[in-house]
Amino acid sequence: MVSKSGHSSRNGSPMRPAFAGTASFKPDNMSVADELHPVIHAGRVALITGAASGIGRAAAIEFAKLGLKVAIADVTAEKLYEVGKEVGKIVGEANVLVVPTDVSKLEEVVKLRDRVYEAWGEVAVLMNNAGIGNKGTSWDGIENWRKVFDVNLFGIVNVQQTFVPSMIHQENPALVINTGSKQGITNPPGNAAYNASKAAVKSLTEGLSYELREKANCNVTAHLFIPGWTHTGMTGAGSTEKPPGAWTAEETVAYMLDKVREGEFYILVPDNETKREVDQLRIMWAAADIAEGRPALSRWHPNYKALYEEYIREGLAQLE
Ligand SMILES: NC(=O)c1ccc[n+]([C@@H]2O[C@H](COP(=O)([O-])OP(=O)(O)OC[C@H]3O[C@@H](n4cnc5c(N)ncnc54)[C@H](O)[C@@H]3O)[C@@H](O)[C@H]2O)c1
Repeated sequence: MVSKSGHSSRNGSPMRPAFAGTASFKPDNMSVADELHPVIHAGRVALITGAASGIGRAAAIEFAKLGLKVAIADVTAEKLYEVGKEVGKIVGEANVLVVPTDVSKLEEVVKLRDRVYEAWGEVAVLMNNAGIGNKGTSWDGIENWRKVFDVNLFGIVNVQQTFVPSMIHQENPALVINTGSKQGITNPPGNAAYNASKAAVKSLTEGLSYELREKANCNVTAHLFIPGWTHTGMTGAGSTEKPPGAWTAEETVAYMLDKVREGEFYILVPDNETKREVDQLRIMWAAADIAEGRPALSRWHPNYKALYEEYIREGLAQLE
């Protein structure tokens, strides 16, 4: 039960929104003019996994428009070749490499690396985007748990272990973008397997970022890309019409690139339904479950419903 006395402790809690304050602990914006960005730059090489559809396809097209050479990988070969043709029309056929690859298989990822390095000798932007959303609840769907972890987690581990050792020896700066999910942070009920895999992606990308930062003379940075609700193959369930609340894959990719250019690690993307302030409050609430000793996923607990709604109301009033 949540008693009235809980209110005074809530008021004094460090978990009350204070983002204006925390923001001041960040160094000044390190944004670099688009045309001067050392990595997202014409002539450099982008590799995108899961590029046959959705966000990966939109990213491949956007990198091509910016004049990068583009290598695309996906387990769905036919659709991947179609995307390859689209990208080729933008940046020229010689600047596209289409490599059907199952990222959950290390030997295929090694072949992918060999193809890209033989062709172009570097990877400037490594975008680990391949993902699946097969459902696995806590005591059901063990095969889906394995599949989801093989792709969403080990797909990234395979690519990171294969490419990063080469990337850190490159002369020019480079970056790794790993695609996580808000579901890996706030853990909404419904698909425990997907959420757990994306929580692991957050953890491994934070670890990668630290290790790259600590390594002497290392010119590679890591970024955790956290899309909002984006209308794609994964979320669209075959429907071509975008729901009003979702962003297009192009909008999500454009936002991501802006934040990568600014050097952000956590790239928390909004959509037409959830603005950044709501995400900030949800993340703080989830963290406070642990810090304040509330039940797991208290946001969805009937005893906390009113309290949570009040928290969001008050938090938004402070933030806006
Ligand atoms: N769409 C959203 O709202 C949303 C939100 C948060 C995170 N994400 C994440 O964004 C990423 C892209 O998803 P999307 O929404 O564009 O979905 P999508 O289904 O349109 O694209 C995912 C692509 O990954 C490919 N893929 C699946 N298994 C693979 C494997 N083993 N090897 C290589 N490629 C494989 C698929 O064939 C597909 O082309 C995923 O990691 C997803 O979890 C999406």
